Amino acid sequence: MSLRLGDTAPNFQIATTTGDIDFHEWAGDSWVFFFSHPADFTPVCTTEMGRTAQLADQFEARNVKPLGLSTDSVEEHLQWIEDVNATQNTTLKFPIVADKDFKIAELYEMIHPGESETAAVRSVFIIDPKKKIRLTMTYPMSVGRNFTEILRVIDSMQLSDEKRIATPADWVPGNRVIIPPSIKNEEAKDLFPQGWEELRPYLRLTEV
Ligand code: BEZ
Repeated sequence: MSLRLGDTAPNFQIATTTGDIDFHEWAGDSWVFFFSHPADFTPVCTTEMGRTAQLADQFEARNVKPLGLSTDSVEEHLQWIEDVNATQNTTLKFPIVADKDFKIAELYEMIHPGESETAAVRSVFIIDPKKKIRLTMTYPMSVGRNFTEILRVIDSMQLSDEKRIATPADWVPGNRVIIPPSIKNEEAKDLFPQGWEELRPYLRLTEV
């Protein structure tokens, strides 16, 4: 089964570095940044785990819980976390799933056999509080993810939910946003009393 945007994120029960979890119960009313990495004790993964730990306050400010995953064991994860903390100057507190039998990696299609038969690629699932999959990204083994982009897309989706807007290319918080064509001018006057610039009837930019 292929997981697509808008699908309910499949639930699972699994051992993690902070204890056994039922995924949906653990997520509660938060957003989730669920991400896989190929293997513990590898260099790119060490920097990604460290970066996620360093950004704990940024994730919390957005009501997002990080959840890592690889096909290593809890014991391996816990030993590796010591290296992550020491080399990345941080204290990693979020759980990392120990998916020794690939149960979750297969459920979420994190194993791409052309890349590796035994290790997960660098998958990202951003899941909202209703447990809907809102964003997916897949990176190869050799490329560490861009955490500025991960926070940016979360900001965009949360603003879009709150204000019924869309965000243009390379948008960052503070930039103007787009009034979607589905909102006609009559309704837009109520929703965006600050007004907008109309570059085309389908391209209206406003401040939020
Ligand atoms: C790394 O994290 O550095 C890595 C892991 C698996 C394959 C290639 C690189």
